[in-house]
Amino acid sequence: MRKNIVAGNWKMNNDAKETKSLLKELKKGLKKAKLNNTKVIVAPSFINLKLAVKQTKKAPIKVAAQNMHAAHSGAFTGEISASMLKSIAVNTVILGHSERRAYFGETDEILKAKVDSALEQNMKIIFCFGEELKDRQADQHFSVVESQINNVLFHLPETAWKRIVLAYEPVWAIGTGETATPEQAQEIHAFVRGIIEKQYSVTVANQTSILYGGSVKPTNAKEIFANPDVDGGLIGGAALKASDFLEIIAAI
Ligand code: PGA
Repeated sequence: MRKNIVAGNWKMNNDAKETKSLLKELKKGLKKAKLNNTKVIVAPSFINLKLAVKQTKKAPIKVAAQNMHAAHSGAFTGEISASMLKSIAVNTVILGHSERRAYFGETDEILKAKVDSALEQNMKIIFCFGEELKDRQADQHFSVVESQINNVLFHLPETAWKRIVLAYEPVWAIGTGETATPEQAQEIHAFVRGIIEKQYSVTVANQTSILYGGSVKPTNAKEIFANPDVDGGLIGGAALKASDFLEIIAAI
């Protein structure tokens, strides 16, 4: 059975002190939670990853990075590699977030190299994809989503898919307060599961968790997660407040 996942993408928020106190509150809240088949992930900034790993050692929380460079090492000032992440026990990385694509020029080609590098290090990947508003208005959302996944992931062997989690994040819904309707989310998730089945097999399609991201809040999480092909969420703003994030986890 595929896992349900609720992942908090903290973006460029929370200094060391705030990281500590948010994790402390989450740990406290999760002690009482019934997690069943749900995995909880947080993605603090690079600088606080080590601290987060240490603080969550005995808690049901995994720590992910928000980005990494494709190269193993070298003259790439300011960058961080998969092997560096692994060396501090960070085994998961978010790749392809729309903010990385839009503000840092990450193309499908760059993302493909990052995916390959992360997999070489046996890391798990949360791969984000999603259309912009203009794509949806032009009725291009299916083809945009298909090409993002095809260009970055469909060269991988079937075995690699055990390490891939997908996150559908319509760009027009990120940080805007605007959420895809449960029907819009389900429609894309089912479509994506279908193209995975066509490319690989029904087994791979059924074992791949597909998360929804874009203005998920305690008030709308339940109806989004209720869809059969939505296996959890990638949460931005609402992951910064422990009570909201815990409520979202409980909604699954
Ligand atoms: P949001 O961000 O929940 O603040 O819309 C989601 C994301 O960017 O992953």
